Amino acid sequence: MVDETSIFIGASRKPDDSYQRAEELLLRYGNRHGLVTGATGTGKTVSLQILAEGFSNAGVPVFCADIKGDLSGISMMGEAKDFLVKRAEQVKLDPYQFQEFPVIFWDLFGEQGHPIRATISEMGPLLLSRLMNLTEAQEGVMNIAFRIADEEGLLLLDLKDLQALLANIAERADELSARYGNVTKPSVGAIQRTLLVLEQQGAANFFGEPALRIADIMRTTRDGRGAISVLAADKLMMNPRLYATFLLWLMSELFEELPEVGDLDQPKLVFFFDEAHLLFEDAPKVLIDRVEQVVRLIRSKGVGVYFVTQNPLDIPEKVLAQLGNRVQHALRAYTPREQQAVRTAAETFRPNPDFDCATAITQLATGEALVSMLEDKGVPAMVQRTLIRPPSSRLGPITPDERRKIIAESPVAGQYDQVVDRESAFEILQKKAKEAQDAEAQAQQQNSGGSRWTIPGFDDVLGTGNRRSSNRQTVAEAAIKSVVRSVGSSVGRAIVRGILGSLARGR
Ligand SMILES: Nc1ncnc2c1ncn2[C@@H]1O[C@H](COP(=O)(O)OP(=O)(O)OP(=O)(O)O)[C@@H](O)[C@H]1O
Ligand SMILES: [Mg+2]
Repeated sequence: MVDETSIFIGASRKPDDSYQRAEELLLRYGNRHGLVTGATGTGKTVSLQILAEGFSNAGVPVFCADIKGDLSGISMMGEAKDFLVKRAEQVKLDPYQFQEFPVIFWDLFGEQGHPIRATISEMGPLLLSRLMNLTEAQEGVMNIAFRIADEEGLLLLDLKDLQALLANIAERADELSARYGNVTKPSVGAIQRTLLVLEQQGAANFFGEPALRIADIMRTTRDGRGAISVLAADKLMMNPRLYATFLLWLMSELFEELPEVGDLDQPKLVFFFDEAHLLFEDAPKVLIDRVEQVVRLIRSKGVGVYFVTQNPLDIPEKVLAQLGNRVQHALRAYTPREQQAVRTAAETFRPNPDFDCATAITQLATGEALVSMLEDKGVPAMVQRTLIRPPSSRLGPITPDERRKIIAESPVAGQYDQVVDRESAFEILQKKAKEAQDAEAQAQQQNSGGSRWTIPGFDDVLGTGNRRSSNRQTVAEAAIKSVVRSVGSSVGRAIVRGILGSLARGR
């Protein structure tokens, strides 16, 4: 049924509801992005599941967020339930084979999967400011903080590095203001307090090392299937800002690390963002612009991005316009806003003379959708009423025991599970402070002791002033040494990357 150049999605139906033809997603347009929408319970997650299965079977790694845990079933063999077998017959999926997929579970909180971490420097000032909902003035201070870290060779890995740096900046506020512009104690204090809140929300787990290696979400199995990375996102959803920031960071990392590839036979990686409205809710315009930019540019890196959300109006127009492959499940049309959503959704399709799109959208059954995929030359196909195929893997969540087993046997088992806390800003600043203190104490001791050994007439050479300054130099030397150490250990990554910022500058 499925050949090597496409993914079987389901069967479109004629006006009399009889079988029309197989609907497929062409793999060569898999990087032209996509959209799965529909009201709650209409079949979005199952559509995501069968697309992810199709990509995996074609050898394309997949990354998806699992909001309710019900996507985890993709790691287990499906069962021949009556309604699934019936659906398979309706769409002429023959034979209907069951299959389990190679899944790697991830979890920002490290509970339902391998921990995913990023360093503070990788995250960069723009995304951090967004995560912390900083004011413009505070964001300015954050930018300066990153510059100072860069110039002074302070590695920013985890939240305590950032805390230590901010404390240090608060102490030197006057000196730094003169050099960089306004660094006020209150604005630094405000950022420090927001950081504490972030910490209380569990974000501390997310920042640090070992940071995620992009290669680990781009794995394939020995038999040539793409690994499916499933991000446990149920807890993450309670912190939508962290969710959005994380996903943006991941896309930006991909953008920076992957080479330009042009048009390929199939994508290198495919992303599914469930509850995509969270990415855009309350997002400042500059951020929406960046998302739009990343989505547009990442295509040429061979990455496809599929948004899954209830309402197409959740997605900004500029982003929506770039989503080529569309699966529209049923929408309700009770309120004016819902009616507007139905009209908008209907208008985005290439019309089919056989039916009225807007009416059809409100009448679709569960697991049925209006489908329009890109066809030859990347033009959207005429919209079709389509019954979506049943999945080959299990429908619904797996048990905690099943999950534990998969995590233990995963190809990245042991790689990320322990935090590594190497020397970075926190330790260096602490050491510096201690060295300064010790030196001060030593100088004082030498001064008081020195007076006993003063040789009359030589006071100007061996005088207290000189000793003191030579001790100061020692402190400076120590500081320089630790700077060299920290730069030397930064594994070749630029300390400040300003991820999305550099994207903007690059184009
Ligand atoms: N293609 C399909 N084949 C067979 N059954 C399906 C199909 N799509 C959906 N269903 C049935 O409908 C149920 C609900 O589908 P699904 O969980 O995908 O909805 P949803 O749109 O993701 O809902 P929510 O917004 O609540 O997450 C499934 O559990 C399954 O029983
Ligand atoms: Mg769902």
